[in-house]
Amino acid sequence: MPAVVIVGAQWGDEGKGKITDYLAEGADTVVRYQGGNNAGHTIVVGKSTYKFHLIPSGMLYSEKTCVLGNGVVIDPEQLISELDELQKTGIDTSRLKISDQAHFILPTHKLLDQRAEARKGAAKIGTTGRGIGPSYRDKVDRRGVRVGDPAHPDRLMQLLVEHVAELPDDVTKDWPAERIAELLTKSYQRLKTHIVNTPTLINDILDDSGRVLFEGAQGTLLDVDHGTYPFVTSSSPTAGGACIGSGVGPTRLNVVMGVAKAYSTRVGSGPFPTELNDATGEKLRQVGHEFGTTTGRARRCGWLDLVALRYAVRINGMTHLAITKLDVLDAFDELAICTGYELDGAVTRNFPSHLTDVERAKPVLQKMAGWKTTTTTARSWSDLPPQAIAYIARIEEVLRVPVALVSVGAERTATFSRLAIWEGL
Ligand code: GDP
Ligand code: IMO
Ligand code: MG
Repeated sequence: MPAVVIVGAQWGDEGKGKITDYLAEGADTVVRYQGGNNAGHTIVVGKSTYKFHLIPSGMLYSEKTCVLGNGVVIDPEQLISELDELQKTGIDTSRLKISDQAHFILPTHKLLDQRAEARKGAAKIGTTGRGIGPSYRDKVDRRGVRVGDPAHPDRLMQLLVEHVAELPDDVTKDWPAERIAELLTKSYQRLKTHIVNTPTLINDILDDSGRVLFEGAQGTLLDVDHGTYPFVTSSSPTAGGACIGSGVGPTRLNVVMGVAKAYSTRVGSGPFPTELNDATGEKLRQVGHEFGTTTGRARRCGWLDLVALRYAVRINGMTHLAITKLDVLDAFDELAICTGYELDGAVTRNFPSHLTDVERAKPVLQKMAGWKTTTTTARSWSDLPPQAIAYIARIEEVLRVPVALVSVGAERTATFSRLAIWEGL
């Protein structure tokens, strides 16, 4: 019953899609457990680039079951268009299973998300505008519409009448309950063959000794509880979220693989202690192609933050780390990593719990030598230059977690493993 969870260890976009694809080869099933199409997970195979927003990144392997768990929020039109696109490339999409307990993102949720952001002006969160927050809000408020609801038309109408009753008139004018019901019913018909009881499915697979890979979206510092609240998403991307969002108990998880870039990025608003608003930050952005997969926005860039990463190790109970984009640092003479935060004259190794303290924190930076040579062709630990080995060894020393996987390029083959993952379970 091996289960491996992949979590973003920073602010999202760490390369989770690429690492999921790498580990999916040895898995039977890949499960998304939270978030929605705010995610953008990229996989590059040869000349083809695939961008997954909702569909799990295991879909490229023809024999894997892929699951959208109960914790995911689903924009039905987006899901159908992603399915159609994949089908066009010849991929068998019948392997996608969708939880009947997952919640829908309604068209009204997207409008509410975008309006709330516009209203906040400079104080905006910088959401993806995909309706994520409003959908999760309705879920927690116990009035969300779930994927299985269109099978019960009376119940569906009752939920939607209640939903629109709370909306401003100019929103309901375009989206009366009947129009939303029609959209959901049509989507349900299209998706019906994929909709199942996923906690039963996943537990059955584990009981039969199947290997299950959980694919987190977003990242630890965007977690609604543990991130830089309120500049977070509305779900739990951390390892605990894998249990809640899939219906699998914590005792069944064997490996928690955190994915971190060799530096830091963030897209959207909120504190970012090691951010570089200078030529070095711009160089990281350009060399790392740091522009969002979902919204195309420029990502903010900075040095690797081991205070934030150590926090992520603890919050997730991380057993292993995957370091991605090491090759992006090839271009730098000198590097720096943050080993502490200076706050009120004292240095702490702990990530502050209040936003204002994260905003005030001054990073304590340790200089590290660059390697100024290409790592993109490295396919084993011994292929790395000594300075790159020293950089990773320092990460392991501070975090006390082994770096099991190293990624040195966007392409599928540009990853190597230092430790067996599935084989060791
Ligand atoms: P995710 O949301 O965590 O799956 O990450 P994204 O796909 O949003 O962003 C990661 C970006 O970096 C994508 O464009 C990947 O193709 C790319 N990428 C992933 N790993 C590497 C790597 O090791 N080196 C380089 N140069 N690019 C990488
Ligand atoms: P992946 O899975 C990076 C950020 C948004 C915003 C905040 C809230 O590709 O790593 P939301 O639309 O979720 O309400 O936005 O979270 N955000 C991400 N940042 N990667 C993501 O996903 C993200 N999903 C949401 O930019 O700051
Ligand atoms: Mg992404």
